[in-house]
Amino acid sequence: MKVTLSVIKADIGGWVGHSESHPEILELARQHLEKAKTNGMLIDFHVTKCGDDAQLIMTHKLGEENKEIHKLAWDVFVEGTTLAKKLKLYGAGQDLLSDAFSGNVKGMGPGVAEMEIEERTSEPVIIFMADKTSAGAWNLPLYKMFADPFNTIGLVIAPKMHDGFSFEVHDVKEHTRIIFNTPNDIYDMLVLIGAPSRYAVKAVYNAKSGEIAAVSSTQRLSLIAGRYVGKDVPVCVVRGQGSFPAIGEILEPFTNPTLVEGWMRGSHHGPLMPVSVEDSTPSRFDGPPRVIALGFQLAEGKLIGPRDMFIDKGFDEARRKANMAADYMRGHGPFEPHRLPLDEMEYTTMPQIMDKLKARFQKLEE
Ligand code: 13P
Ligand code: 13P
Ligand code: MG
Repeated sequence: MKVTLSVIKADIGGWVGHSESHPEILELARQHLEKAKTNGMLIDFHVTKCGDDAQLIMTHKLGEENKEIHKLAWDVFVEGTTLAKKLKLYGAGQDLLSDAFSGNVKGMGPGVAEMEIEERTSEPVIIFMADKTSAGAWNLPLYKMFADPFNTIGLVIAPKMHDGFSFEVHDVKEHTRIIFNTPNDIYDMLVLIGAPSRYAVKAVYNAKSGEIAAVSSTQRLSLIAGRYVGKDVPVCVVRGQGSFPAIGEILEPFTNPTLVEGWMRGSHHGPLMPVSVEDSTPSRFDGPPRVIALGFQLAEGKLIGPRDMFIDKGFDEARRKANMAADYMRGHGPFEPHRLPLDEMEYTTMPQIMDKLKARFQKLEE
């Protein structure tokens, strides 16, 4: 049976500051999606949050980029914004960059990751959702899951994975895409995806079967809007087992909390801390950046779950390491590489300061 899994998210207001989603907003989203399930548009849904980002997880038979599904999500976010404004939540509606829906939420602010799949006899999926980071945050974990045999032993010993995986990589500035076939292309691919602020892994496919293995949302709100509008905090859906990595191989990359961009004012690097949904409350310097992982088994499109995968004690050390890295990075204060390079910062006083200092700059002798 063909089923589409759509994950659509938006930051439509924080409680308090940028630290958490308000329960009434999530309840409003649940009521909307329940109605859509009752009238048959959705097979199933789950509403959750990562920090102050509201996450709509939906299954249906309408395919990817379906207007009705995108309109449903858009309406939830618009009504959620009205409620957020009433509660005077912080940054109410910040990810909605347009006033009018035009058929697809892509490019309008919300993050979208969708895959239409032929549901297997057993279909385990993991949905990663993050806050206080940006589009390229999945590059390193996806590389490890699908191309690094030191992470994923299945690449070596599982016949269905031994031919490797194909990566679709997007240049988020030029709006172009390229396909890399691993393991052959890994050195070329790493030149690009090692620069995650410019190149982001959009999707991964099993090279032999061509089946979709993972899909991420890769858009940069700051580029869409041409000014600071919050972060294009990404989501990522990964299929597990069989011709894909085992669930443990999919989660393993997060045991090393890598440095990502997006902490405090969208302008700092910090460690990506894997946490339970409950612990996705970034409050220390508005962070450090968080990632949650919900696991589901699909059954005729029904979402059997969620299981909160990072609740596992096996991730305690990763959290401790992330806290130590957070202290270390914070010690740099306003200096790079904690602070992002000037051209990457989501807002900056640079033009005003340069204007003010212009007259005081003196030419140096050659
Ligand atoms: P599959 O090949 O069925 O995915 O099993 C691998 C596994 O789960 C071992 O950890
Ligand atoms: P959000 O993108 O979650 O609103 O975070 C904004 C920020 O920069 C907090 O310091
Ligand atoms: Mg947010």
